[in-house]
Amino acid sequence: MPRMRQRKLLGAFAGAIVSLTLLIDKRVLTPCGRGLHRIHRRFNLLKYGMEYEGTPDDIFVVTYPKSGTTWLQMIVYQLTTDGAVDFDHISEVSPHLEEMMIPRRHKISDLGRTPRILKSHLHFHQIPKGPGRYIYCVRNGLDVAVSYHHHARKYISGWGQMPQGEFFSRFMAGQVPYGSWFEHVTGWLRNKDRLNVLVVTYEELRADLEAGVTRIADFCGITIDPADMPRILERCSFAFMREHDAKFSLRGPPPPKPASPPPGFIRQGQVGAWREELDPRFASEFQEVCKRRLRGLGEDMFRFLSGQGARKGEPALTPPLAGGLSLATPSGGASQNES
Ligand code: A3P
Repeated sequence: MPRMRQRKLLGAFAGAIVSLTLLIDKRVLTPCGRGLHRIHRRFNLLKYGMEYEGTPDDIFVVTYPKSGTTWLQMIVYQLTTDGAVDFDHISEVSPHLEEMMIPRRHKISDLGRTPRILKSHLHFHQIPKGPGRYIYCVRNGLDVAVSYHHHARKYISGWGQMPQGEFFSRFMAGQVPYGSWFEHVTGWLRNKDRLNVLVVTYEELRADLEAGVTRIADFCGITIDPADMPRILERCSFAFMREHDAKFSLRGPPPPKPASPPPGFIRQGQVGAWREELDPRFASEFQEVCKRRLRGLGEDMFRFLSGQGARKGEPALTPPLAGGLSLATPSGGASQNES
């Protein structure tokens, strides 16, 4: 049977399971306060993956949350348009794939814009695969954890008062939205050669935005008119994005107010800020776990991801664009754990 037909059949099968789980949820389980969310989510991902007819123009901006997703979206938007910022919210020009997946919302093929710029936090094994470009942005895990804690307190209902220790335990156990940071980064970095993936670090963008933007443009096959560069750098700067925070913040109903509301979505934008904010005991625990779980990615990547050497205000320790950050040869497959 031709491959395309097989994919379509599998997609239709997954779609039928999604509909069935929804029906069971609605008629039988929801009244008893239970649900089939995990099954539903798993088959929905499969359905989307199978139905996706990618084009080489598609650009996926993929990250574990709080690793610079919105910044990357803005960079790609600036590179692919005249950069007018005439949208109310960045999701109008670069939608969040997982939000589109909610049944009866849009399909990727419904998006009219070319290139399609899709934001996603999916793990490697979950992402719809095609001939397009995938930009995977990583950030050292300690700054991610601190940023995610602020985010959770501000945006996750019921987590407004969560102490750092409790959040950190959840983060380490992968009991946060999108699951384990360790599995996310190892899954993408080990499998990056199976798709057209560019790995970018938050820290390299912070160290030299122009070099990072140029590298991203090269990967996307875009030639930047030198006259446009000042505009791109200005609009992708922390100051500009912070000033227009509402265009980048999470949307939706405001969560219950925490005792002292943390600042906006474009919050602090520092490298190594964890040294001032994170309890040193959590940092050591994290770095011990990194030794077990990230060594296989190579010494440079292990040191970078585990936050070693990244001091506040300093440039990235070994940005890949300078050719310093090496990735070990892929070994073994990605973790297939669902988040
Ligand atoms: P902090 O919370 O450490 O400040 P994401 O978009 O993946 O949720 O990532 C959010 C993080 O990226 C936040 O980090 C935010 O401040 C930072 N960020 C967003 N735009 C930025 C920019 N232009 N320059 C530097 N950091 C930026």
